[in-house]
Amino acid sequence: MKVVTTLDDLRHARAGLLGPVGLVPTMGYLHEGHLSLATRARAECASVAASIFVNPSQFGPSEDLSSYPRDLPRDLAMLKEAGVDLVWTPTPEIVYPADFQSWITVEEVARTLEGAHRPGHFRGVATMVAKLFNVFQPDRAYFGQKDAQQAAVIRQMARDLNFPVEVVICPTVREPDGLAMSSRNAYLHGEQRPAATVLFRALSTAAAVYAAGERDAEALRQLMAEVIDSEPLARRQYVSVADPISLHELQGPIQRALLSMAVHIGTTRLIDNLILGDI
Ligand code: PAJ
Repeated sequence: MKVVTTLDDLRHARAGLLGPVGLVPTMGYLHEGHLSLATRARAECASVAASIFVNPSQFGPSEDLSSYPRDLPRDLAMLKEAGVDLVWTPTPEIVYPADFQSWITVEEVARTLEGAHRPGHFRGVATMVAKLFNVFQPDRAYFGQKDAQQAAVIRQMARDLNFPVEVVICPTVREPDGLAMSSRNAYLHGEQRPAATVLFRALSTAAAVYAAGERDAEALRQLMAEVIDSEPLARRQYVSVADPISLHELQGPIQRALLSMAVHIGTTRLIDNLILGDI
C-alpha cells in the first residue's frame, strides 16, 4: 500500500493504478463502517484508493474540528489490511492553499435536515469531494448510507457537474446494540454509550409501527420524538420523515420515506437514519 501526501506524489501514484479505480473518502479514525466501503470497493474494482483528511471547511465555528479523533498509524494499518492500494493523507495547506477561493454549493437537496442545522457544512463536503474526484479520477466512489443527505448531495453534484464517477452508497454498519458506527462515538463516556442507542430505538419503533400499517408521516415523527424524549441523556435536535430523493418533509400518508434525526448525547451530536418502503 502506497501512502502519499503531496499532489505530485498522488498524481504519479494514481497514474500507476490499474482501472477501474474505486475511491473511499474518509476523515480517518476508521471503524467497520469505513472498512465496509473499502471491502466493497476491493470486490468491485481493480484498484482501491482512499483519502484521510479531517476537512476543516465542513466544520462550523462551534463544532468539533480541533477535538475530532485522529490516529493515522492505526488507520493506515486498517486500510492495508482491507487491501487498499493507495492512500492520500494531505495537509490542510495542500487542500486549501492561502489563496483558495472556489467553492461548490449544491442547492435544494443540501438545504434541509443537516443543511438547516449545520450552515456551510455541505458546501465544505461538496467542495472536498469534488477535489477528490478531480485528483483521483476514480471510476467509482463509495459512501455510506449513515450520512444519507451527504450521499444525496454528492449524487446531485456528480450528476450536475458531469463527474464521470459512479457514486455507490453502502449500508450503515451498526454495533451489536444498533448504534450506528461513527468516529464521534469515541466521545461517548459511561452511561452516555447505552443512552446513544436511543436513535436506533426510535428508528426501529417507527419501522415497527410502519410494518404494522401506520402510514401517517406526523404520527411517525411524533413517535420517534417520544422515544428520544424518554431518554434522559438525549436532547433532540430534529426528527424527520422525508422523501428519500428530494429530502422534502412529508405530510399525511406516505409510501416510502427517509426517517432521520440528529440527537445530542451530552455534547456529542449523533445522526442516524432508516429508509421505509422500496426506493
Ligand atoms: P467520514 O465521517 O470519515 O465518513 C467517511 C465515509 O464513511 C462516508 O461515506 C460515511 O457515510 C461512511 N460511514 C461512516 N460511518 C458509517 C457506518 N456506520 N456505516 C457505513 N458507512 C459509514 O463523511 C465523511 O467522512 C466526510 O464528509 C467526507 C465524505 C470524507 C468528505 O470530507
